[in-house]
This record gives sequence, C-alpha cells and structure tokens, in this order.
Amino acid sequence: MGIVLLDSYRRQAVDLRVSLTDRCNLRCTYCMPEEGLQWLGKSELLTDEEIVRLVSLAVRELGVREVRFTGGEPLLRPGLVGIVAACAALAPRPELSLTSNGIGLARTARALRAAGLDRVNVSLDTLDPQTFHTLTRRHRHQDVLEGLAAAEAAGLTPVKLNAVLMRGVNDHEAPELLAWCLERGYQLRFIEQMPLDAQHGWDRSQMVTAEEILELLAARFTLTPEPTAARGAAPAERWLVDGGPGTVGVIASVTRPFCRACDRTRLTADGQIRNCLFATGETDLRTALRAGASDAELGELWRVAMWGKKAGAGIDDPQFLQPDRPMSAIGG
Ligand code: GTP
Ligand code: 5AD
Ligand code: SF4
Repeated sequence: MGIVLLDSYRRQAVDLRVSLTDRCNLRCTYCMPEEGLQWLGKSELLTDEEIVRLVSLAVRELGVREVRFTGGEPLLRPGLVGIVAACAALAPRPELSLTSNGIGLARTARALRAAGLDRVNVSLDTLDPQTFHTLTRRHRHQDVLEGLAAAEAAGLTPVKLNAVLMRGVNDHEAPELLAWCLERGYQLRFIEQMPLDAQHGWDRSQMVTAEEILELLAARFTLTPEPTAARGAAPAERWLVDGGPGTVGVIASVTRPFCRACDRTRLTADGQIRNCLFATGETDLRTALRAGASDAELGELWRVAMWGKKAGAGIDDPQFLQPDRPMSAIGG
C-alpha cells in the first residue's frame, strides 16, 4: 500500500463516499426546490470505468476500507450494479454500502446484494403518505416501504433508516417512527437539519435539535446512552431503547458535531475530491484523470486534498459559510 490519506489534525480517511449522480426523483424541501436543479451534463460525470479506477486506487493504495455510494439518488445511475460488482472484486475487498431514498430498491435489492453490496441506509421521514408528499413533493411513499422490505429480504442488513425532522411537519411523529423501526429491526437515526439545501433556506432557529429529539422520544421510551467506545467514527450517537437490544441514533451535525473523529473522504459525481461535507473548495481529479495522470499522480493529488481538511465544519460558528454545492451534488 502507498501512503494513506492523513490530514494535519492526525485523522486518517478510510471511508470513501462516492456520489454517483446529482439527480434525484424526490424533491425533499430541506434539500432542493420543486423545479429541481441544473443537473450535471453527461460529459461532466465520471464514467463507470473512471469511478472504478478511482475507487480501486483509494482501496489499493490509499488505505480506504469502506465505500459508500450516494447521490442525489444513486439508484438512478444505470451502471450501479456493475460498479458495485467491480468494487467488490477489489483486493482488499472494501465494505460496500449505499445511501438511498429507497425508490427502486424493490427492483434492484437482490441484484445489488448478488453484486456484493453489504448494506443500505434508506431515508424515510414519515409513516404518513400525505406528510411524505409534503416533505418530498412526490407520491412515492409506498415505493419506499416496498424498497425497505426488499432490502431486508435481500439481506442488505442491518438496514438503517435516516429521518430528518421538520418543525410542525413531522416532528410529532418521532416516537411512532421509532416504534415502527424497532418492530421491524431497522436501525433508526434522526439527523439534525443541516445548511446544505440548494435554496439556502436553512434557519438555525427552526431546526429540531438533538436535545429536542431526545425529549420527544423520552415521552414514550427510556433511553440510555451506549458506551462512547462503541461509536468509533460513526456520525450517530446511539441510545439503547428501553434497555435494548433496540437502539436509536441521533446525528447531531450542528449541535454536537463529530468532526474530531471524522474518517471520511468524498468523490463527487463529476470527479472532485472533497475533504469535508462542508469544504469550501474541491480538488479536480477528473481533469488529471482525463489528461492521462498515473495512479501515483492521482494518489498524490488526493493526499494533498485531504491534508488541507479543516478541524471542523463549524456550522454553529457565526462566520460559517454554506458550501457552494448543495448536499445532492456533494453526496450525503
Ligand atoms: P453508517 O453509520 O456507516 O451506516 O453511515 P452514515 O451514517 O455515515 O451514512 P449515511 O449516508 O446514512 O449518512 C447519514 C447522515 O449523516 C447523512 O445524511 C448526513 O446527514 C450525515 N453525514 C454524513 N457524512 C457526514 C459528514 O461528513 N459530516 C456531517 N456533519 N454529517 C455527515
Ligand atoms: N440536512 C440533514 N440531512 C439531510 N439530508 C439531505 N439533506 C439534508 C439536510 N439539509 C439527508 C437525507 C438522507 C441523507 C443522505 O441526507 O434525508 O437521509
Ligand atoms: Fe433526493 Fe435525498 Fe435530496 Fe431528498 S434529500 S431530494 S431523496 S437527494
């Protein structure tokens, strides 16, 4: 192996998040406007082969051990199954996961599992089809439920669920959502809403905080913190529910950021390295790749990109600047 991806705060990036497309079939209000966004053009997107080449470099030479495919909505990428299969054939074999809104999983879960995908995280903010439409502007609730069931049946487990609570829209549903997940063995995590929406509409005072989420859940459940050692570099703090074994997680990116333990590096669908979800700059690997750069040269660009990673995202700092690109283009 070559030299691993370190930053100047002694963190090592072992978890690569690859965005496969910036497109999505939902329009979550905390993510993008009703009309969608100016999508990347075909020539801007990395090809399947280019993605596999870069993942391969990261795994063989740069110490990456886990690869997560994200979007936009990664199931919209036609070559997804082939990309997964090629990544599963790498040595050492990385752990492979997917973060999806669940639409289309009912059709693809088995093929993804057969190709080597280990597990999925699915976003679901509500159990009510009408509230789903209010949040996502699409009538696809049933598709998500079917996708979840298919993921479980295909063995893409443990299935994790991500939920963003929006004040006055679905926050009252938190305990019900947890009960529903516990019954089915899904690991639910609530995420604090982050300033990553394309509309720049995030309002700190409207965000449902981790503290509030825990209060909402305490009305129905007894929560005891899991030992912090169990957390590692995971973004979610976890609690045992009613003594366990069921758990609930809270990803408190704003009020209790996990930046000190962050082990992530990101590749966008158009071939840019981001050293942080909230980075204000990117490193262009696509141009170098298409100009014929060697693995050694690409690896060096990647290492330099990671070395410049900031200590923290600083969302709650007064001088915080939202990144130029929204979550859907960066990869969640
Ligand atoms: P596992 O716990 O390994 O399953 O992965 P994960 O929780 O990182 O994956 P997922 O893609 O489901 O991410 C869940 C949420 O964590 C994302 O939607 C983001 O809201 C948040 N998140 C992911 N990466 C970062 C990051 O680098 N920084 C911050 N602040 N939040 C992140
Ligand atoms: N804040 C927090 N989470 C978000 N997600 C998308 N946009 C935001 C935001 N602004 C979540 C989605 C999905 C994951 C990829 O990121 O709900 O679960
Ligand atoms: Fe699509 Fe995810 Fe954005 Fe919702 S949050 S619109 S599912 S990319």
